[in-house]
Amino acid sequence: MLSALRGVLVATTNEDLTGVAEAAREGGIAIAVDTDPAVASRLPDEFERLGVATHEAFDDLAGAADAGAPRDSVLERLGRLTSNCVSCHETYRLVSSPDSE
Ligand code: HEC
Repeated sequence: MLSALRGVLVATTNEDLTGVAEAAREGGIAIAVDTDPAVASRLPDEFERLGVATHEAFDDLAGAADAGAPRDSVLERLGRLTSNCVSCHETYRLVSSPDSE
């Protein structure tokens, strides 16, 4: 998702809306479907909700770019989207438990 975010920022700077849409799709829901079920079943519901919402926000951004969204609107969406990154990182950490080693 960091890489998708970077791609969106670079393309936005270059006023390249096609590039914004392409980069945003790299953070979209399509990249999330491969989560190993054994991992997914252990994730808290709220974690999954935030993750899905973030991928959907990338897809929404891609759609807005396809529709010719102005730069301010792309940046405004990025501001909202990245608040998901912050809230998830503030709430969750991956830790290894002694019995998984
Ligand atoms: C649903 C929760 C969630 C969301 C939303 C989320 N992340 Fe994360 N992210 C994590 C967790 C959990 C880790 C691992 C943290 C740890 O090491 O304890 C992580 C780690 C990372 C890392 C470090 C990766 C590494 O290789 O060490 C980066 C970079 C990152 N996230 C970027 C982002 C960006 C950018 C966004 C938003 C576009 C985002 N994340 C959204 C949960 C999330």
